[in-house]
Amino acid sequence: MIKEELKAFSEIFENYLKEVMSAQNNQYSAHYDAMKYSILLGGKRLRPFILRAFYLVCGGEGEDFLNFAASLEMIHTYSLIHDDLPSMDNDDFRRGKPSCHKAFDEATALLAGDALLTMAFEIAAKTKNISSDLIVDGISELAKLSGADGMIGGQIVDLAIESKKVPIETVLDMYKKKTGALLVAAAKIGTILAGGNYDMKLAAEEYALNLGIAFQIQDDILDVIGDSKLLGKPVGSDAKNQKSTYVSLKGLEQAKLDVIEYTNKAKNALKVFDGDTSQLIELANYLIDRKY
Ligand code: IPE
Ligand code: IPE
Ligand code: MG
Ligand code: MG
Ligand code: MG
Repeated sequence: MIKEELKAFSEIFENYLKEVMSAQNNQYSAHYDAMKYSILLGGKRLRPFILRAFYLVCGGEGEDFLNFAASLEMIHTYSLIHDDLPSMDNDDFRRGKPSCHKAFDEATALLAGDALLTMAFEIAAKTKNISSDLIVDGISELAKLSGADGMIGGQIVDLAIESKKVPIETVLDMYKKKTGALLVAAAKIGTILAGGNYDMKLAAEEYALNLGIAFQIQDDILDVIGDSKLLGKPVGSDAKNQKSTYVSLKGLEQAKLDVIEYTNKAKNALKVFDGDTSQLIELANYLIDRKY
């Protein structure tokens, strides 16, 4: 069952993250405390899991993908720390605990996010047993997809369209970037590290982009009808901030139908692969009904 597989992987991955994050403490280590607090809090570890799944489907072996998986989780965690700041979504809870800026303070949260972002590239560059061409290719994707035309590009649209009525295409473009881009990074980097070809990279991108749209629509649905205890973050955040979301534009029922449609598009993209894609198919199905 995919739920158990995800959980088993999360445990192994979390131990690995603990090792990576075990830098020595000194007098001025509030940033380390805040980084560890946020990244070791839990979370579904979905992006590392997707990276690993594509690595395996494309014939990758061993654990050499783990550095990039940690990098991606660092970038994802930094994006959440900053996303919760008062100047962005102003949310006080994350992963079931006070948000980083609540547990520490705003300046420390800002710097912890910056430090996680930069550490991500250090860790990715330290990947062993994979050719340096592929590592550079992976780092380049990581940078591009988290940056100004990727995740950050989506976050800026998200803020720019608060309290505005925009066409659904604008919202979809925002989802592709703010959420889709890091999922694409996961799928594409897994494929790259395993030596996947051009068609495989395109298919990985197509899967992750559609999964990302479905995932963000579901996130917006859960912001309306979810349980904050299960989610580990507040509900009603989008309404509070007058966000333009898929749900606010199309309504809850249409949004639920479209989660299924985008999930189907994601699964269809997997036909290119000869390897066993059942884990990726099950993951997509599992996420349709997720409650957190
Ligand atoms: C939350 O991502 C932010 C979105 C892109 C919707 P996740 O739902 O993957 O958060 P964690 O990592 O499990 O906490
Ligand atoms: C966040 O979208 C996407 C990021 C890049 C962090 P949301 O603002 O909807 O994510 P949550 O609901 O706070 O996790
Ligand atoms: Mg946000
Ligand atoms: Mg938010
Ligand atoms: Mg949300």
